[in-house]
Amino acid sequence: MAKGVRFGRITARPNGTVDTSEVDGVDDDFIIKPIQAKGHIVSLREFAVKAMNSHFGMQATERFGSDADGDGVVDELTPGDITALMIFMATMPPPGRVMPSNPDAIAAVEKGEELFSGIGCAVCHILELPLANPVFTEPGPFNPAGKLQISDVSRLFSVDLTTEGPQPRLRRQTDGTVMVPAFTYLKRHDMGELLDNETVVQEGIPPEQWMTRKLWNFASEPPYLHHGRATLISEAILAHGVEAQTARDAFSTLPKADQDAVVEFLKTLQVLPENSTALTVTAGEVEKDAGTGTVVLGAAIAVFLLAAAAGAVMLGTRRR
Ligand code: HEC
Repeated sequence: MAKGVRFGRITARPNGTVDTSEVDGVDDDFIIKPIQAKGHIVSLREFAVKAMNSHFGMQATERFGSDADGDGVVDELTPGDITALMIFMATMPPPGRVMPSNPDAIAAVEKGEELFSGIGCAVCHILELPLANPVFTEPGPFNPAGKLQISDVSRLFSVDLTTEGPQPRLRRQTDGTVMVPAFTYLKRHDMGELLDNETVVQEGIPPEQWMTRKLWNFASEPPYLHHGRATLISEAILAHGVEAQTARDAFSTLPKADQDAVVEFLKTLQVLPENSTALTVTAGEVEKDAGTGTVVLGAAIAVFLLAAAAGAVMLGTRRR
């Protein structure tokens, strides 16, 4: 049990063997690996070192040595380069809520939010989870072998995710923890045949099992589901099976207006527009504010130019 979420149990037998058959939704080592659709990557560093190699053909020295691809370019990515990349990724602005401005649409969002919990979606897509320590450090304590370790450095690089990086940020509660509204409890589930499309087993995880997807920002990233086969939010919901069957059926038997309300609520979970000052904003308003800012700046420049022109005239006058 961690943060109220149950991951099953391991039974140790007197003869020294262990029974892991009741471990649920996580690897037998009980280490939650939150990254990737399968939930098999433990840290941002592990992800970046792998992705840099497989997608960009650039090898991190800490994993591959100085010139593993023999192209004559040594140290393509130093530990410092990878750490800089980590800090960039870790401090990206958190997603938020973009609310509609129309009162009927707001009412639908509120209704949909209630239904989301009421029909059982929030069992897996838990509304928020506490983060005990919002200070992100690199190298982190969970980097697997072959990635920079704490013992490799004399000093950790650390950033406080509640204060550093672009605003707005998540806030600390009075007890120091931060509630993260990512809408996932980070467990894997058998999702049934519509999501069982892979022929190659990844990291020993059965092909029908997927990490409960985070929903913060998901509406900004269509198409949906790990294979992107759902172009509509409702399709993504209706593709849920087996362990999510009860919640899916509860959704599909709601009156149409209530189904629409759930979708309206989900549509608010977005990447915030640039220049947002709060984690919940109203659609159109940030852009309008930014527009006003431009007008104000334009006016200031115009006044400045006028003043400069007047100054030039005065100078000219004085010289005469
Ligand atoms: C048993 C756990 C579980 C329940 C209950 C559940 N989900 Fe999911 N949900 C998942 C998993 C796992 C995925 C990821 C599937 C994949 O990767 O293809 C997912 C994916 C999604 C997605 C797609 C997100 C994206 O980024 O593509 C949406 C939307 C979603 N769920 C909404 C809902 C709604 C609404 C309900 C309630 C009707 C619900 N879920 C109930 C486990 C669950």
